[in-house]
Amino acid sequence: MVKIAVLGYGTVGSGVVEVFEKNRESICRKSGEEIEVKYVLDLRDFPGDPVEKILVHDYQVILEDPEVQVVVETMGGLKPAYEFTRQALLAGKSVCTSNKALVAEHGAELMQIAREHRVNYLYEASCGGGIPIIRPLCTSLTADEIDEISGILNGTTNYILTKMAADGTDFASALKEAQDRGYAERNPEADVEGYDACRKIAILSSLAFGSQVNYQDIYTEGITKITAEDIKYAQAIGVSIKLLATSRKVEGGVYAMVSPVMIGTDNPLYSVCGVFNAILVHGNMLGDAMFYGQGAGKLPTASAVAADVVDCATHQGENIRISWGDSRMALMDLGQVKHRFFVRVQGSLAERLPELEKQFGQVETITVPGVDGEFAFITGEMPEAEYKARAEETKGIISMIRARF
Ligand code: HSE
Repeated sequence: MVKIAVLGYGTVGSGVVEVFEKNRESICRKSGEEIEVKYVLDLRDFPGDPVEKILVHDYQVILEDPEVQVVVETMGGLKPAYEFTRQALLAGKSVCTSNKALVAEHGAELMQIAREHRVNYLYEASCGGGIPIIRPLCTSLTADEIDEISGILNGTTNYILTKMAADGTDFASALKEAQDRGYAERNPEADVEGYDACRKIAILSSLAFGSQVNYQDIYTEGITKITAEDIKYAQAIGVSIKLLATSRKVEGGVYAMVSPVMIGTDNPLYSVCGVFNAILVHGNMLGDAMFYGQGAGKLPTASAVAADVVDCATHQGENIRISWGDSRMALMDLGQVKHRFFVRVQGSLAERLPELEKQFGQVETITVPGVDGEFAFITGEMPEAEYKARAEETKGIISMIRARF
């Protein structure tokens, strides 16, 4: 029998309790252990809820109970989650979490403490919710050098972009609909500005490349500036705009970034729509593999946390090796990274094309019926710094989106 404690009875925490209730037998069959939720910690009371009987308000009760072998941290945020996690690991208890902010900020340190105490700090649910991606990176793809991870790692922004493309609506209306449906938070900043995806790609990159990728080093741009006109241009040439979180080995190093990118139908991420997430991994032996599913939500996320608990139950007294070193990985300066650029400019195509081709070299042009007084062009591949220098000398640029097709 393995006894666990769940910290935080919110959406994911209550989902974890539900998973262990509903799937008790099959979890026991697969893990060879019965897993019992002994405590739930929350500041609130839940009168009438079955969890009432095991609810505690004082973390010391859990920390000082030698029967509790695994702590599930589903509180979110850094405070008090960091201190609670540290204390649990130091007390010889494994910790499983969905808390991407904590993993991105203190993951390397917490894994080190877990190693020293022969317990585990596992966080499958921190990236891609219910999609298995951390475990495949750590155990299934160990024979490969990972060259690239590109993902749609945020369901809220993918819903908004999908909605804008389907209905021709602007960003504000699509965001409002996402909020009305409960996909987007009342304060949507972390999602729409790309901060959530940034922490997730920092975690995946640290695992893929084996050293600490600081989320603060990752160039991050959200979707707030994407307009209905941008979508019309994209549709005119049969491509799609996605918020991509990417880390990639190229000549000169590894770069990581989060930004809207135009992708073509040949990219497997093209058809990932609505709140779904997907992570495309390229290994030097494997080639492409894509992991697709529900990146958020109570039960999908809880399923991933509960599977980590099962892993802890089957590895008692043993630290599962995770290749994520302490040394900080230096990412390439984005200025050296090459992209194609989709650029909207004011004026008439016939009048401006010679000047633009002089500035940017040969370009492909796009005009869209109903979008007047402007046109767009797509450059060939060039380093970001070169694009920036040329763009600074060009009058009337309305907007730019990176293109990968
Ligand atoms: N806000 C996140 C999303 C939830 O929209 O994908 C999961 O981290």
